[in-house]
This record gives sequence, C-alpha cells and structure tokens, in this order.
Amino acid sequence: MKLNDGHRIPQLGLGVYQTPADETAEIVRYAAKAGYQSVDTATIYRNEAGVGEGLADYPDVYVTTKLWNDDQGYDAALRAFDKSIKLLKRETLDLYLIHWPAPKKGLYVESWKALIRLKKEGRVRSIGVSNFTEENLTRIIDETGEKPVLNQVELHPSFQQKPLRAFHEKHDIRTESWSPLGQGGGLSDPILMEIARKHGKSAAQVVIRWHLQSGLIVIPKSATPKRIDENIDVYDFNLDDEDIAKIAGLDRADGRLGPNPDTADF
Ligand SMILES: NC(=O)c1ccc[n+]([C@@H]2O[C@H](COP(=O)([O-])OP(=O)(O)OC[C@H]3O[C@@H](n4cnc5c(N)ncnc54)[C@H](OP(=O)(O)O)[C@@H]3O)[C@@H](O)[C@H]2O)c1
Repeated sequence: MKLNDGHRIPQLGLGVYQTPADETAEIVRYAAKAGYQSVDTATIYRNEAGVGEGLADYPDVYVTTKLWNDDQGYDAALRAFDKSIKLLKRETLDLYLIHWPAPKKGLYVESWKALIRLKKEGRVRSIGVSNFTEENLTRIIDETGEKPVLNQVELHPSFQQKPLRAFHEKHDIRTESWSPLGQGGGLSDPILMEIARKHGKSAAQVVIRWHLQSGLIVIPKSATPKRIDENIDVYDFNLDDEDIAKIAGLDRADGRLGPNPDTADF
C-alpha cells in the first residue's frame, strides 16, 4: 500500500508480540520462506535480535519496530533507535513507530521530533505512531507539520474503530490493525464460522481477508508454522457484500481487548 510519504508497505505482515525471543529467528525465517514480506516487532517485545537474525538472508522483508514508552523524549528516542537498528542488523529501518502516546509523560511531541530527525537523516524510511487518538494525532501534526504515515491501533471485527478510521482517511493516514484476530478469541463466533464454511476457508482467513478488503494493513501473529501458512493463504477468495455486512454487525462499543490509550499508565 502506498503511504503519504511516497513509500510503500506490504498490506499483510507477521506480528511477533509474545513470540519467545529464543524462537523468533526460526519463526521469522519460516515466515519469510512462506512468503511474508513484512514483520512487526517492538523494543518491548524483546525479540528484535531474533527478527534481525531470522531476516539476515531476507534484506527485502519490510521491518517495523517501535519506540517504548520508557524511551520517550528527544535524546532518549534517538538512543533507543540506535539500539533497535543494531539488534535488527539493518542499515535503514523501514518503519519506526511511537508505541503509545503515554499522555501522562507529556513527551510524545518531543519523541515525534526525534523520529522526524531520523527520517531526515535517512536512517528510517517512514515514521508513524501507534495507539494515538485523534487528539494526539492533531497535536503532533499541528506542532511539527509532519504527518505519520500510519497509526497502528487495536482493530478486529468486535472493535472496528470506525470514527478513528474516518479521521485517518481524511488526513491520508493509513490504519494498521493490531490484534487483528481478536487475539484468537473471537474466531469461534458463529457468524464468522458460517462465512468461513461458505468459502471453504477458516475463520482466521475470513477475518484477515476482511482487513485486507477494508483497506487496512494487517499483522496477525502466530508462532505456529501451520497457522503462519494459513494466515497468508487468503488470496484465493473474496468476501461479498453480504459477508461484509454481517461482519460489520459484529462491531461492539465494548469490544476493546487491550488498554485504552487515554488511560493506559505504563
Ligand atoms: N501497537 C500495539 O500496541 C500492539 C499491541 C498488540 C499487538 N500488536 C502487534 O499486532 C500483532 C498481532 O496482535 P496479537 O498478537 O495481539 O493478536 P492476534 O494476531 O489477533 O492473535 C494472535 C493469537 O491468535 C492465534 N492464531 C494465529 N493464527 C491463528 C489461526 N489461523 N487460527 C487460530 N488461531 C490463530 C495465535 O496463536 P499461535 O501463535 O499459538 O499460533 C495467537 O494466540 C502482534 O504480534 C504485534 O506485532 C501491537
């Protein structure tokens, strides 16, 4: 998908949150061989070194990592980036995100300025954010004039984030879905199972297909080879209008699984 800075990002990638550090290299290598073109990690996942090792022979696989909350602030962010890029064994990073706005720290604008510098220096191709609200996004854009290429937020059929997606669209910011499978929990939903049966696919494949057809960037996590294969085998069917309408009906105001960015205190 084309980003607002002219670069491109693969629409489907592998997430590695909770992938054990000592297994990450093997899992990521397996995924790259299976055809994944993108991997999403973060400093706090403590497996950047495994991602770097696993992708050593796959320099074209797109890599995203994220600035952890404890490293927010201008100088601290620059230092954290140096550590990450070293662990990832890359000369240039594809995408660097501020992981959470952490509004109580009051440092996300300063952190954003550090990311702008890294981009200017050519050390990272694209810069973006994660878990930012409309208010957080408006502030960084107003104070720096630089838009993030994307905002990575919790998004799955039970929590579809329609107002935030509309805001992103208005500002030419892409939406990237984290916990796209609802952490695996919602996959036994009868409506998803029915759509899956209709297409001869799994519920996970239906949900990933829904993200893709909705114009979202999607990073399902699996540490299981069979599921890694399954989650990328989503290009031989199409959800129709009726399927899409049924999935739209699964959205719930209380469907959030993770922390609320406004109140998260870490
Ligand atoms: N920016 C943020 O704040 C943030 C927060 C959370 C996540 N993320 C990113 O988003 C990625 C994905 O989110 P997530 O890991 O929270 O959840 P997820 O991708 O929605 O779900 C992962 C869970 O679903 C299972 N699963 C995967 N494929 C499956 C399949 N085909 N059938 C049945 N179960 C399947 C996995 O099990 P196995 O691994 O055992 O196969 C795992 O337990 C993360 O890895 C991370 O990169 C970002």
